[in-house]
Amino acid sequence: MTTYSVGYFIGSLSRRSINRVLSRALIRLAPAELEFREIPIADLPLYNHDLDEDYPPQARALKDAIAASDAIMFVTPEYNRSIPGALKNAIDWASRPWGQNSFARKPTAVIGASPGAIGTAVAQQSLRAVLAFCNAPQMTSPEAYIQMRPGLIGESGEVTDPSTEAFLRDWVSEFHVFITRVHAVLPQD
Ligand code: FNR
Repeated sequence: MTTYSVGYFIGSLSRRSINRVLSRALIRLAPAELEFREIPIADLPLYNHDLDEDYPPQARALKDAIAASDAIMFVTPEYNRSIPGALKNAIDWASRPWGQNSFARKPTAVIGASPGAIGTAVAQQSLRAVLAFCNAPQMTSPEAYIQMRPGLIGESGEVTDPSTEAFLRDWVSEFHVFITRVHAVLPQD
């Protein structure tokens, strides 16, 4: 059995984040071949290209964590119809210095939860445009726009609605298949 290390970003810094809850559900439902490790973004300074010659330790840790990951999962809220600034800041750090873009050829998947009816759809399109520029292969199907209502997913990630549970299990299984395919055709070094 080939196992893959999946680094994941939570776009929210909130301790009560519904997207963090969603990430716990995905980890519970994932196939055994996927091992998950969060890539923290809260302590990153704001990106400044004056620092490209001498990255701060938090940014070096970020790039090391992506390099150590076989794939990247983004679990993000939508802020004002785009992605949160903290997540964009992390992506900007990871994409630089020029020529050392950490996302190149890395298989990625995007998912998010919102109380609203369109479940982060606009933010996900915004994130997909950024990942395309960063040369990161993206799982394009299935898409996943999760409308979070109270009680849908418990604090530890237990999903109470069977159809949502089946949907999320399928989504993360498809991500496993996608990772396998990308690794089969694209050299990662
Ligand atoms: C939001 N929220 C929101 N929701 C949405 O569906 N579309 C949007 O554009 C926005 N915009 C927005 C901006 C800002 C600054 C905040 C704080 C919130 C609501 C958002 O979906 C809700 O707060 C979620 O709980 C955020 O996800 P986390 O932080 O709980 O994971």
